[in-house]
Amino acid sequence: MIIAVDGPTASGKGTIARALAAHFGLPVLDTGLLYRAVGYQTQLGHGDPDNAADALAACDFPDTLLDDPALRYESTGGLASRVSIHPAVRKALFQRQVDFANQPGGAVLDGRDIGTVIAPHADAKLFVTASPEERARRRHAEMRARGVDVTYDAVLADVHARDARDTGRADAPLLRADDALLLDNSEMDINEAIAAAIAFVEERVRRPS
Ligand code: DC
Repeated sequence: MIIAVDGPTASGKGTIARALAAHFGLPVLDTGLLYRAVGYQTQLGHGDPDNAADALAACDFPDTLLDDPALRYESTGGLASRVSIHPAVRKALFQRQVDFANQPGGAVLDGRDIGTVIAPHADAKLFVTASPEERARRRHAEMRARGVDVTYDAVLADVHARDARDTGRADAPLLRADDALLLDNSEMDINEAIAAAIAFVEERVRRPS
């Protein structure tokens, strides 16, 4: 079984994808991490993330980079969003994601274009979202808890900028697939959102569309 989980930044899609993977006993791939590795590697090489050739050169990053805590930084998310605009970068990362999705037994993948481009044949698709204000509130609380000195307004501005870039790009923009469940968790806590996601996938398994 292949489960596609897409959604904007700070929507909770990563947590939901991991919970689905644990529940259904499937491997999980956070595809944003691949774009984060490319963005970070571009910066390490003093390249320009807005330059397609610089970003493409960073696509052969070493796998060990995926464990680097710096990939989780908010600033790395911004770099990832910038390199992800380039079609050559998306092409370079495409096969790795497709192979992960199509492995025997299935998989869960989370990202922006899983249900639309990477695994359009997925058995269950979810589009996880929440209002920009709620996502910024959660991201701000999480950053403050880690000791990062940042204002709510700065986080909200970053959420809006990431949304605009991820939905506005020409190649594989962030988009809800027609057959994806819209899971708006603005008014839910994470456990309610996970329960709704599991219930949806179980229903899809019982009654494939
Ligand atoms: O999910 P994330 O915040 O770690 O993703 C970081 C950036 O990577 C996101 O702003 C856009 C890009 N991305 C993408 O273009 N396609 C994906 N499947 C996953 C992430």
